[in-house]
Amino acid sequence: MKVLGIESSCDETAASVVEDGLVRSDVVASQVSVHRPYGGVVPELASRNHMVNIVPVIRAALEEAGVEMGDLDGIAVTSGPGLVGSLVVGLQTAKTVAMARGIPLVGVNHLRGHLLAARIQDAAGDQLPLPCPSFPYMALLASGGHTGIYLVSDHDSMECLGQTRDDAAGEAFDKVAKLLGLGYPGGPIIDKMAATEGPHQEMPQALRQRRSYEFSFSGIKTAVAQHIASLGSPPSEDQKYAIARGFQKAVIEILVRKVVLAARERQVERVVLAGGVAANRGLRDHAAGQCAANDLILFAPPLYRCTDNASMIAYAGYLSLVEGKHDGLDLAPRSGWPL
Ligand code: KG4
Ligand code: ZN
Repeated sequence: MKVLGIESSCDETAASVVEDGLVRSDVVASQVSVHRPYGGVVPELASRNHMVNIVPVIRAALEEAGVEMGDLDGIAVTSGPGLVGSLVVGLQTAKTVAMARGIPLVGVNHLRGHLLAARIQDAAGDQLPLPCPSFPYMALLASGGHTGIYLVSDHDSMECLGQTRDDAAGEAFDKVAKLLGLGYPGGPIIDKMAATEGPHQEMPQALRQRRSYEFSFSGIKTAVAQHIASLGSPPSEDQKYAIARGFQKAVIEILVRKVVLAARERQVERVVLAGGVAANRGLRDHAAGQCAANDLILFAPPLYRCTDNASMIAYAGYLSLVEGKHDGLDLAPRSGWPL
């Protein structure tokens, strides 16, 4: 079964072809340069750029997979959660293809896509198969829009044990980078700075002692703003590096602490990282150490499968379509869609 997947929930326009569960192509058009001057995603600009990018991206995905439109057996599209004006572009394109070709359409929850990304394998190539976590596993999903701990029991059975009460972890990275005048998106920039040797500025870890799986990241952003204000003058390069190190340390420690706690309490031996923040080197290293110390097996997908992509949507959609699940052409975008 050949499935085309389309992702347009935020600022990446992406398309992918999955055949019998294996990825044949994975194309992403990033809008980072469009949104960089604003230090964050501007929804109106995101929708307009999806309109420009979507057809070329789909063409590229089909070409890379060596597949014609007429070969497709189904189409999967992110139908939420996300920016409605962005989702609409992918949805409408997917419906058009489904209607024109007479093939089934399935709407995929973006969070479900992220949570399954660690299980995705590429179609035959030179590379070795990726380590694949079997069910059940405990997942930390940390992205620009969401942060939570999920017990994943099957491809369509996912329980949220706790999530952020306010900002998502990626949002905190982006906002702190903006406060420091570092550029957008903040995650990769802070990650690089935090990897350097030197002192770190101590930062608070909200809800650390609570035995719940909830997070809160708005306080740390305020702490950074207050620290900068207390300096009396714009931070020097050295001070920026110290803040970046301290901020990253506080965020990754709380994220890893809670997913490890959840895995131990629920007696699940596999831990999975998911979402854009899972591309963070510091997080991956810290998680590796903590999992080893607690006899847990860590699975961290390749970086390009952590950040937004369409292979996770095509893969999740394929799993639904093979079970005969699909949606009607009245499928609507959902700005919020808890798992
Ligand atoms: O999953 P994603 O691509 O989109 C959403 O679904 O939100 O996540 C984007 C977020 C951004 O906030 C970005 O700053 C963050 O992931 N991010 C990182 C890193 N790479 C991307 N955060 C920390 N360290 C990174 N290396
Ligand atoms: Zn995402």
